[in-house]
Amino acid sequence: MSYPKSEVRTTIPLFKVFMAPEGALMPRLRETLYSGQIGEGAQVVHFEQKFGRLVGNEQVLSFYSGTAALHTAVMLAGARPGDEVISTAMTAEPTNMAIKHAGAKIVWADVDPKNGNILPESIAEKITERTKAIMAVHYGGVPAALEKIRAIAENHGIPVIEDAAHALGARYGGVPIGSHSEYVMFSLQAIKHMTTVDGGMLTCADADDLRKGRLIRWFGIDRQAERTSVDVEIVGYKYHMNNVNATIGLVQLDYIQEVIDRHIANGRFFDRELKGIPGLELCAWDPQAEPSYWFYTVLVEDRGRFCRLLAEHGIGHSQSHRRNDLHSVFAESHCELPGLDDFYGRMIHLPCGWWLSDEDRQYMVDTIKKGW
Ligand SMILES: Cc1ncc(COP(=O)(O)O)c(C=O)c1O
Repeated sequence: MSYPKSEVRTTIPLFKVFMAPEGALMPRLRETLYSGQIGEGAQVVHFEQKFGRLVGNEQVLSFYSGTAALHTAVMLAGARPGDEVISTAMTAEPTNMAIKHAGAKIVWADVDPKNGNILPESIAEKITERTKAIMAVHYGGVPAALEKIRAIAENHGIPVIEDAAHALGARYGGVPIGSHSEYVMFSLQAIKHMTTVDGGMLTCADADDLRKGRLIRWFGIDRQAERTSVDVEIVGYKYHMNNVNATIGLVQLDYIQEVIDRHIANGRFFDRELKGIPGLELCAWDPQAEPSYWFYTVLVEDRGRFCRLLAEHGIGHSQSHRRNDLHSVFAESHCELPGLDDFYGRMIHLPCGWWLSDEDRQYMVDTIKKGW
């Protein structure tokens, strides 16, 4: 449902950019900008090390975007034209564009209607001898059912790529998202938990993949080697992060735990306070998953009226993503996805981030309890 523009009075936005305080950021940024070394250098290396400590994996590479990191992961997994990658349609388009960039065919697995995450049982049904990777998105910051997904993957010797664009700071089995799978990607785009303006990170379980990933991100060239002695053996890209973005990242990392903690505190508040409201169902997830609540997804009856209530009270909300299987570019992958039909027909995302005060979140609960 859409409303006349004049009625929309968003006072609690669904997304907001977190930028470190000017006093902390600007001196560091100025220093880098005028250092004469603004390309990929020491700041990038320091940023990778510091980010690695946050996600509990020191084998991490930085990229200029999450999409570039994902494309690299798909290539490292060995997916080429003629191969298949099992993925989810309930995500942002870049998840699946990265598979297309590698020329592989997307095979949709269904999603769990209780949270929108890829369903392990459906993955198991879709595996063929051409399957080269499983793409698992932690949608909205809720970790997918990794134990079951990994068991299926290991059983078939297929790597898992986790798209953790929404899930920085989430945990699974008590361990931070970042080291459960062969490849884990984080996005540092403007509105994620943490931004470097744009950027992406990729953890690799295998040291050889890390080395190859480093080549892929810069024209296939080993930057440590003497340039005129290098033989380029693989097709590489210009996917690296630069010192300017890395400097922003280094400062942002001083604040990220506070940001994540507030997302989680708000999410847990909604888990308690929105329970039992007629017409509203909360998402449910794997008991080992500890979400980092990028946004807060609810499943509602009569979504049009629910959205009108929120709009009238200045509460940001959106479905945020179009199920990817509806796009013409992915038409060849079409199949029945009943779990997705159910989730997509009822889901709506609410603000949950660091910018919500205690009063804001209480106001949201009180508004929703009025009914729609
Ligand atoms: C689920 C998901 N995957 C991948 C991406 C791509 O990340 P980036 O914008 O950093 O390329 C995004 C967001 O933009 C996303 O939401």
